[in-house]
Amino acid sequence: MSTQAPVTRTTSVDIRARKGGAPIVSLTAYHAHTAAIADKHVDFLLVGDSLGMVMHGYETTVPVPLELMIMHGRAVVRGAKRALVVVDMPFGSYEESPPVAFRNAARVLKETECGAIKLEGGARMAETIHYLVDRGIPVMAHIGLTPQSINTLGGFRAQGRTEDQWARLEADAVAVAQAGAFAIVLEAIAEPLARRITKAVPVPTIGIGASAACDGQILVMEDMLGLSPRVPKFVKEFGRIGAAIDGAIGQYAASVRERTFPAPEHTYALKAPAAAKK
Ligand code: KIV
Repeated sequence: MSTQAPVTRTTSVDIRARKGGAPIVSLTAYHAHTAAIADKHVDFLLVGDSLGMVMHGYETTVPVPLELMIMHGRAVVRGAKRALVVVDMPFGSYEESPPVAFRNAARVLKETECGAIKLEGGARMAETIHYLVDRGIPVMAHIGLTPQSINTLGGFRAQGRTEDQWARLEADAVAVAQAGAFAIVLEAIAEPLARRITKAVPVPTIGIGASAACDGQILVMEDMLGLSPRVPKFVKEFGRIGAAIDGAIGQYAASVRERTFPAPEHTYALKAPAAAKK
């Protein structure tokens, strides 16, 4: 029997076991180099379909194709060596039926070698989540503000800010947990409801705009680095990378125009002629 190298990456089972323990740290990542930098700091990296907006200039996540998720998923798996990598299923790739979801999710797992997929939706996706988990595909669920439903939600709005919405959102969380999701992203959910859901489900809740009551947190990396032109209220900018890029490119442009770049140290000189042989 041949033996394989031991699995050293964090798995969905490890994340599931962190319920109620030390906060789970996660970020989105879309390419290999930033994934490699983030890898040592986070428990999991999400190749979110927000890459359509952040990297490709779409106004929503709705147009993102499966192939784009697979391409970025591969890059992040190559860059990250220890964090679990979760890849988002894009709009239209899983809603139709559990078998369609399985076919596409299996492609994502096989072609990217990621450790789990994420899909949006609560109780309505429970049957699909059960079908996938039963067939070996770890699923992270995503409820609350679900950006793929922007056209029916009517806008990017916080959820659960009035108590009449609570029962439905809590039922969504319970349904996806019972169906086998190993963790649930709660997006833009008012604090008392996020706290209540976190207590109600046996799997970790990962908040994005859902308060410190969740078992873990996620942000879009470009947002927290200060690279995104507009960010939602729940984002804290931990860096000012956008301003740093602007400054560096401005200096480069000025140096080229002044002919101070490239300087002699950036320039190839002729090789010294070889000493004549006797
Ligand atoms: O696509 C994404 O970046 C996400 C996060 C907002 C959780 O789903």
